[in-house]
Amino acid sequence: MKNILLYIGITLGVMTNVNAQSDAKTEKKIDEIINHLTLKEKVAMCHAQSKFSSPGIPRLGIPELWMSDGPHGVRGEINWDDWGYANWTNDSITAFPALTCLAATFNPELSHEYGAAIGEEARFRKKDVLLGPGVNIYRTPLNGRNFEYMGEDPYLASVMVVPYIKGVQENGVAACVKHYALNNQEEWRGHINVNLSDRALYEIYLPAFKAAVEKGHVWSIMGAYNQVRGEHCCHSNLLLNKILKGEWNFDGTVITDWGGTHDTKQAAFNGLDIEMGTWTNGLTSSAKFAYDNYFLADPFLKMIQDGGIDESVVDDKVRRILRLMYRTNMNLNRSLGRMNNVEHTQAARKVAADGIVLLKNKNEFFPINPDTNIKIAVIGENATRSMTVGGGSSELKAKYEISPLEGIKNRFKNATILHSMGYASGPSAYGREIPSKLNADSLVKAAIDVASKADVVLFIGGLNKNHFQDCEGGDRRHFELPFGQNELIAELLNVNSNLGVVLVSGNAVEMPWLNQVNGLIQSWYNGSEAGNALADVISGDVNASGKLPFSYPVKLKDNAAHYFGELSYPGDSINQYYKEDILVGYRWHDTKKIKPLFAFGYGLSYTDFKISDLTADKQIYSKGDKIKVSCLLANTGEVKGSEVVQVYIGKLKSKVERALKELKGFKKVSLDSGKEEQVEIEISVDDLAFYDEAISDWNLEKGTYIIYIGNSSDNIIQKQKINIK
Ligand code: BGC
Repeated sequence: MKNILLYIGITLGVMTNVNAQSDAKTEKKIDEIINHLTLKEKVAMCHAQSKFSSPGIPRLGIPELWMSDGPHGVRGEINWDDWGYANWTNDSITAFPALTCLAATFNPELSHEYGAAIGEEARFRKKDVLLGPGVNIYRTPLNGRNFEYMGEDPYLASVMVVPYIKGVQENGVAACVKHYALNNQEEWRGHINVNLSDRALYEIYLPAFKAAVEKGHVWSIMGAYNQVRGEHCCHSNLLLNKILKGEWNFDGTVITDWGGTHDTKQAAFNGLDIEMGTWTNGLTSSAKFAYDNYFLADPFLKMIQDGGIDESVVDDKVRRILRLMYRTNMNLNRSLGRMNNVEHTQAARKVAADGIVLLKNKNEFFPINPDTNIKIAVIGENATRSMTVGGGSSELKAKYEISPLEGIKNRFKNATILHSMGYASGPSAYGREIPSKLNADSLVKAAIDVASKADVVLFIGGLNKNHFQDCEGGDRRHFELPFGQNELIAELLNVNSNLGVVLVSGNAVEMPWLNQVNGLIQSWYNGSEAGNALADVISGDVNASGKLPFSYPVKLKDNAAHYFGELSYPGDSINQYYKEDILVGYRWHDTKKIKPLFAFGYGLSYTDFKISDLTADKQIYSKGDKIKVSCLLANTGEVKGSEVVQVYIGKLKSKVERALKELKGFKKVSLDSGKEEQVEIEISVDDLAFYDEAISDWNLEKGTYIIYIGNSSDNIIQKQKINIK
């Protein structure tokens, strides 16, 4: 025994670089550890021992793995054996902006800063696996969890997810990219069987996961709750064995979503490594301390002992788990982490301010001069409501959270700030709606009174983290704003037409009042620094530069998933069919010529930009080549600002149906007033291929393609033809 301990002790020091991929020496040590383990010990490593941990091997000094949500901050401590909060006093953290906001920055450097900061907080909180980021594609504006994801475009999500993962993992903490895959709605998420073409799967729903694995080298991945082609995603032969571990050579650990396992044999053979959160005694009901009853616990052990499953099956899982451990809790060189430090706060504020999107600005309604001594009426529940509370598993125990009202008061010291709630939604509770007890008529009356006295009205509303809003476990019931906000805005406009709206949400909403309001800002769930970041943009301290990471349809039926009726969304409770196929988001609006209210990639600035002189470095390209697209970007306005130059490419004639154009490159550039810069964006010719079901592989068609350059998907400034031979 002493020798074994000594031996393991030596192995612990193998990894010197936290980012290193597993090397041959480590692999050899892992094999040797496996040789020392009993079958029972191996099986124990494949399932939870508490709500958020899985066991190590105490007699050999192999530590436990500790996990935490994710993805916007490190969640408060949860009890060992139930979902209640443990009420520790040392687990308050920095709340970072929701991933919709991060995606709206179109800024990969900020994504790295975000990942590095949240990774440090996870490390300080002694977590080995951070359950995020989420990269499910925004398919419908009703999905209750869109706020946790990176929008509708596979390329944008692929570019933004990689630096986040690298930032987290630099700390010796594993990112756990989720929910793999097709968990694009919360309605019936535990069982709905998604039917879609291989093309839609490979072109739309998988690229961000693929980038996470191949470019981000993510160390763990979480299976989704739903089914695809009749198999639960947490043990899907197609998703896990064939694609993830086969085609992408993923060498990390597959973790279930909490309660996502349903069958021992499938869990054993179809690529799952760690089972978490099963709400069961192995059959149908929940029981206390039921971990031995998990599908990958005693039933798994018995099947191996009976010879139904070969021991090599559990060995492969344990090998992956030990690899994860060498990268995290058995890496003696990882940093100690930090929490609630000023750099993290600043990163949160920067991301939030960079991701806020200015959607309408009639007569330069924004920015509002911060030195003004006018009367500003701030109306709406979201001016004061905490948005780190609620929403499901991404809920946070923030050390502090600056509300929009506080942020505005902090910055507009000379103004008189009047405030009225206007409407009320009720407290947030998981899985149920609790209506507010406040009198709606009195709230409206008070708000009208306040608005009539002000020089400017800022209506701060939108959605919130309640059930059936932007919240896990249910989808939105309606596309319109809830809690009587549309009627309230109409009433406010009657008494004061100098009104701007700030929407705080993670989803698009219907906007019947859009033509009557002077300004519109899309803000997000922006965490600890939400109010300060909003004030940064409203005051003009920070020039607005966010771009929409998803399309806003005029009405729900204009969205592709909804166009095809209930079988497409939400399905018939057993099956659903992604009938829009690859035409998701702007691909649908563009190709079918259905004008969105606001297009993917859209966002205004307080300055003006001019894009000109589009060139491609060649006329004819071949497989493997890079296309160097360049243009001139000039800031022709009065103030410094940032613009996102977006390059889309489309194929003219194709043997399959194609979207008119797809995002293939972008760059966010900051320019002083009056300055210009040559912007270069490199695109791989291979990225122009489509997934050809006839050959079950990517196919780069020859012929003419069009490069489109602009500052949103519906504002294309120049086009150029190129050829692929
Ligand atoms: C969510 C996951 C989360 C897990 C653990 C599940 O309900 O879908 O995203 O990481 O719970 O809290």
